[in-house]
Amino acid sequence: MTESRDRWPSKTIFIFAAIGSAVGLGNIWRFPYLVGKYGGGAFLFPYLLLLFLFGIPLLILEFSLGQKMQQGAVGAMKRIRKSFSGIGLGAICCSFFVACYYAVVMAWCLLYCFYSVNIAWGDDPSTFFFENVLQSSSSPNEMWMIPTHVLAALVFVWVCVYFCIWKGVRSVSAVVTITMPLPVILLIILLIRGVTLPGAMDGLIYYVKPDFQALLNTEVWMAALTQIFFSLSVGFGVMIAYGSYEKKTSDIVKSAYIIAVSDAAIAILSGLVVFSTLGHMALQSGESLAKLAASGPSLAFIVFPKALSLIPGAAFFSVFFFLTLLLLGIDSLFSLVEAISTTLHDQWSFIRKEDLTLYVCTFSFIGGLIFTTTAGIYFLDISDHFITIYGIVTVSLLQSFVIGWGYPAGKLCEWINQVSVWKLSKWWSFAIRYFVPICLIVLLFTALYRDVTVPYGGYPKWAIIMMGWSTISLMIFLGLVYSFITTRKKSTNPFHVDDKSYD
Ligand code: PFF
Repeated sequence: MTESRDRWPSKTIFIFAAIGSAVGLGNIWRFPYLVGKYGGGAFLFPYLLLLFLFGIPLLILEFSLGQKMQQGAVGAMKRIRKSFSGIGLGAICCSFFVACYYAVVMAWCLLYCFYSVNIAWGDDPSTFFFENVLQSSSSPNEMWMIPTHVLAALVFVWVCVYFCIWKGVRSVSAVVTITMPLPVILLIILLIRGVTLPGAMDGLIYYVKPDFQALLNTEVWMAALTQIFFSLSVGFGVMIAYGSYEKKTSDIVKSAYIIAVSDAAIAILSGLVVFSTLGHMALQSGESLAKLAASGPSLAFIVFPKALSLIPGAAFFSVFFFLTLLLLGIDSLFSLVEAISTTLHDQWSFIRKEDLTLYVCTFSFIGGLIFTTTAGIYFLDISDHFITIYGIVTVSLLQSFVIGWGYPAGKLCEWINQVSVWKLSKWWSFAIRYFVPICLIVLLFTALYRDVTVPYGGYPKWAIIMMGWSTISLMIFLGLVYSFITTRKKSTNPFHVDDKSYD
């Protein structure tokens, strides 16, 4: 099976595809609003520190798993021990849930590309976004219906995604040569426009000036960590799948550093674009920068469109901005689908990959319909919160725990060093065995305590249970059942290393 496996045509394409997955809406929309919300430049400190302490070790872990086992998330875990296969399934469930809502945000970006042509949001982008685009109800309790323009945009997004990946690694390789570098060029153009605006300097100073008081807040560290997981696409099985299309002898460590550092650099660059433009807006409108910067998730669709409408050449730069978002998002979205279809194809290789991809796109489209309803934005917020905290953190915790202790990490580290140009030190095994699991357990329990005592976002209980707790419970249930079934199938010993040929 390994012989006939698809391969990346070159190392550069592999790196492009992985950066394409990592760099997405999270960099240009999530990262800048977190910086604004959590202490400006002070957020960069935990972000960069945790990137090196957690993000890169976990990225190396996922690449090495995929590359060594030559399988997607489920198959790779299964090859270590059958009882671990449920962890891979958990990762795939995270990919599926995120793909469902990520595509909806992409659909909004697509609509905004058209609205930008005549700055359709006018003077009131907030009313335009909630009432005209989303036709949002005032609470999740209210009647649901689906606005047809959002539905049509979502269909279009999924059709594009399907055609980007229908030929697997071959079509992905062709697409990422455009979708990876082009948005970076667009971002640079937007940056040049941004920094040459009056008031830009104030915005940039706000962005880089640290408020060290914020570092004492545990929430800041949690936000930095979940942002790193979301942004590096770890805990979703994506990097395992992408690693599995590399030759077994390919370098891992250097590639992981290049990918992680590029991802952080693009996030920081996006922050420069956003804050320089917000600085101009603050000057024009007289609103405080702190208030604009801390506008939260509405940044991309409310505050930023307003800021863009105030600059000369507004329509042109607005189209540019939403096109950049679309291009950044598309390779992240199809990487989620690739993670799922790779795993399915590993298990059922008799079904054509194209067909599996079509089924995954169709199911994700159907799953995403709930986020297009008039109450969709509330559900999206709840799902994002629960999946990024409990889903990916749990998967990453289990992954590092079982590789650290079950494989064990030292053995994998030796193998990584055999194939890599840059060598790992003992720190990596230590991080995977102790540091990462312990910190993630603390993070998980802190978050659990907070969410159990105070309902997230003040939403009604039924909505939190339906979109949050039950999604996570379903994921855990499926993982456990799958592990149980796979363990029972051939061997009754759950501690049996299944495939020695992969040692
Ligand atoms: N990393 C992407 C972003 O920052 O927008 C989102 C994402 C893509 C998350 C792929 C997870 C994933 F597997």
